Amino acid sequence: MEYGELINKAEANLRAKGTLERYVRGVETNFVGRFNLRYFERYGFKFRMIDSQEASTETTFFGRKFKTPILSAALSGLTEIAEKPFREIALGVKNSDSMMWVGIASAEHVKDVLETGVPTVRIVKPFQDVDTMIQELKEAEDGGAIAVGTDMDFFYGGKRGDVTFAPKAMAPKSLTELRELANVTKLPFILKGVLSTQDAEKALEIGARGIVVSNHGGAIIDHSAHPLVVLPEIMVVIVNQMPIFADSGFRRGSDVMKALALGADAVLVGRSLVMGLVANGSQGVAEMITILTAELKRIMSVTGCKNLGEIDDGILVKRNFFI
Ligand SMILES: Cc1cc2nc3c(=O)[nH]c(=O)nc-3n(C[C@H](O)[C@H](O)[C@H](O)COP(=O)(O)O)c2cc1C
Repeated sequence: MEYGELINKAEANLRAKGTLERYVRGVETNFVGRFNLRYFERYGFKFRMIDSQEASTETTFFGRKFKTPILSAALSGLTEIAEKPFREIALGVKNSDSMMWVGIASAEHVKDVLETGVPTVRIVKPFQDVDTMIQELKEAEDGGAIAVGTDMDFFYGGKRGDVTFAPKAMAPKSLTELRELANVTKLPFILKGVLSTQDAEKALEIGARGIVVSNHGGAIIDHSAHPLVVLPEIMVVIVNQMPIFADSGFRRGSDVMKALALGADAVLVGRSLVMGLVANGSQGVAEMITILTAELKRIMSVTGCKNLGEIDDGILVKRNFFI
């Protein structure tokens, strides 16, 4: 299926079930939900055609090779869409030679994912009960995950519209507590939900081996910053000491290219993969990653970037207006 077909089919399906709003809405006024999609309009691309070559989107993380820097976001729930949603997403991600990330999930769902053999990152919630976090981190390590971490932007729970979810079971963590958590595993430890240079510096201090620059897809606070705004200053703090992943609002290969140009090493896509899953199961997930990767590759070729390492902000123009 083509991009439009996947999206139209998925939206019609969710609308018929009355659940479309739940998948697209952000917190309170939904400003950040809308802005996450629109901020990409601030940037355009230059052409650098002469001597350009067809680009490669290959990359390496944690010693593993991937055909694309477009990875699955850490997802959860989705059992109303498929009986084994994690397994289906994992199969689609594996068939696209991409990386799978898993959020809230039962031990059985995590096992479903790891059994497919897809390289997997397990993100556990910042539970009040640290023993539960440790147990989930260890289960992921024993099951063969390639990295683990926590979505620390969920310290105070998430919020959709005016409804806060999971506020009680979560709790903020100090630098020392996060360092202890990073040390319970031999795997690379990732902090998801970094949106300031201060937290990026602290990620280095705890020995994190990756960060996700994210506003959690608009599910934390209204008017939170867009990842593209903070990526350049965070890149200056991290200076290649660990991979920088980005997510929140990425819908097309052009969006991904802008984040890569501003300092990200890879992008995680959430709702786009949910749409692929709704439209066409695991094949729809693979189709979505393949389409977005082809879009990225074409833009890289036209902007004269032969590989991901050649992408920088020199290919961008900044607009002072939205379209
Ligand atoms: C259905 C759904 C479930 C999610 N569950 C989790 C989760 O359990 N843990 C987590 O860190 N993020 C979770 N997220 C947030 C994503 O990891 C990611 O930050 C966000 O979806 C990116 O924005 P996008 O959906 O616009 O691509 C979830 C997102 C969606 C859409």
